Amino acid sequence: MSASENILHAAGLAKSYQSGRGQLEVLHDCSLTLAKHERVAIIGQSGVGKSTLLHLLAGLDRADRGSIRFGERRLDAMGEAELAAYRNQHVGMVFQFYHLLPEFTALENVMMPILIGRDISTAQHRAADLLEEVGLGERRHHFPSQMSGGERQRVAIARALASDPEILLADEPTGNLDHENGLRVMDIFAGLHERHRTAMVLVTHNPELVIGFDRVLNMEPGGHLAAA
Ligand SMILES: Nc1ncnc2c1ncn2[C@@H]1O[C@H](COP(=O)(O)OP(=O)(O)OP(=O)(O)O)[C@@H](O)[C@H]1O
Ligand SMILES: [Mg+2]
Repeated sequence: MSASENILHAAGLAKSYQSGRGQLEVLHDCSLTLAKHERVAIIGQSGVGKSTLLHLLAGLDRADRGSIRFGERRLDAMGEAELAAYRNQHVGMVFQFYHLLPEFTALENVMMPILIGRDISTAQHRAADLLEEVGLGERRHHFPSQMSGGERQRVAIARALASDPEILLADEPTGNLDHENGLRVMDIFAGLHERHRTAMVLVTHNPELVIGFDRVLNMEPGGHLAAA
């Protein structure tokens, strides 16, 4: 496959955290290539570094070593403003615990990323359409505390799609949901892929969710990703 068909290419990533007793090296040598439109699932033991990797790919944190290429550009060479623009325009992130802003309604949560650079009415319309797409048109004026877990996660998905990103990163998006709501979230992801061909990296413990994915990788200690 030629490099131009890859949307993300991470090579030799290392990441340590400062802990009470010194440095903890979570990722030692982690590499991942994501082709345009590809869906990759990552499984692996708790604490192995899956969320750490997603945060690096999302531009939410920086690696100690290694490179991440997004198309022709390198995340590790970007300044803060450029990295913020990458986060806002090119990747959508969905977390296990939704991370919605509690003092804003569903509509306002989804509008938030769209407001950067666009007027309020455009943001309102787009956010309303996205909420419709995830089946929550009727709930748009509810606050997160007035919604079920499954509904909150669907708001979070709508928010992640606000800027029409090429890449969706999802960290155990169904980990906090019952079986039925988990399947519903996966249906939304499948629909998204069908309509928008969004490339995805999904971290999950649930083998049922990876059906239809192009590759399933197991993260080994140190961050090495091997075919599961
Ligand atoms: N901010 C931090 N400071 C110190 N240690 C951290 C920090 N974030 C994560 N860690 C440690 O890094 C390791 C990897 O964490 P990470 O969250 O990436 O694991 P994970 O594979 O996502 O696990 P899980 O499946 O439980 O979500 C863990 O041992 C964790 O305790
Ligand atoms: Mg995790």
